[in-house]
Amino acid sequence: MSITIKSAADAEGMRVAGRLASEVLDMLTAHVKPGITTDDLDRLAHRHIVEVQGAVPAPLNYAPPGYTPYPKSICTSINHQVCHGIPNDRPLKNGDIVNIDVTVIKDGWHGDTSRMYVVGEGSIAAKRLCQLTYEAMWRGIAKVRPGVRLGDIGHAIQTFTERQGYSVVREFCGHGIGRKFHEEPQVLHYGRPGTLEELVPGMVFTIEPMVNAGRREIKELGDGWTIVTKDRSLSAQWEHTVLVTESGYEVLTVSAGSPPPPELQAA
Ligand code: MF3
Ligand code: CO
Ligand code: CO
Repeated sequence: MSITIKSAADAEGMRVAGRLASEVLDMLTAHVKPGITTDDLDRLAHRHIVEVQGAVPAPLNYAPPGYTPYPKSICTSINHQVCHGIPNDRPLKNGDIVNIDVTVIKDGWHGDTSRMYVVGEGSIAAKRLCQLTYEAMWRGIAKVRPGVRLGDIGHAIQTFTERQGYSVVREFCGHGIGRKFHEEPQVLHYGRPGTLEELVPGMVFTIEPMVNAGRREIKELGDGWTIVTKDRSLSAQWEHTVLVTESGYEVLTVSAGSPPPPELQAA
């Protein structure tokens, strides 16, 4: 398989899926409070996707080679969990940070997006990590236009992140997306300028940096999915699905509740 190029009609399908995924995060925002469990959030998201949106939660029973089927409809990754956290019956507590990652399938097209949520009052350090990771994602997105290479995106994210003393997770990356959840290419969040695939209009991929407050090393828990930082430092992630246009980019995972892009100072 190679990189699929989306037509204008395909892009319209992905725009709809992207908006729906983002609207699930909008809907969940008011519910992310101390005392709610991630199972509750999963249930709310599942119902909204199936009953309100007439869509399908892509994670449910998703089973890439070497993995057991994913048991829930969203991923919820708390504090030192990096990604792929499985919702459970443990209540969120004041000061937790949680990534909620939503992927919906609508009319065969996937939309994939995640945001960080601070539960109640977060520490300065936790809020700073979330904000910096958001800016890291946007520094990657801002690079996207025809002629640029994937290494330019990774480089922008890595240099910004490491300059602040944080680290970028290497083992997981963004990905092409469309009729399939994970397509080519891999979108690394680190790299060298001028290397790897050249972007052309009609490519659609995610940018989803995972940033650790401590060291970049990770490990997988015994559940076969949850990834945590080895040093138990806090980790944050944001994700958008992005279309390469003739003149630059279009973020497809946007909705009324999307946080605004940050103002980017020269790197
Ligand atoms: N949404 C994740 C991503 O951004 C993938 C989750 S796979 C799952 O690529 F099975 F854990 F849902
Ligand atoms: Co993704
Ligand atoms: Co995702």
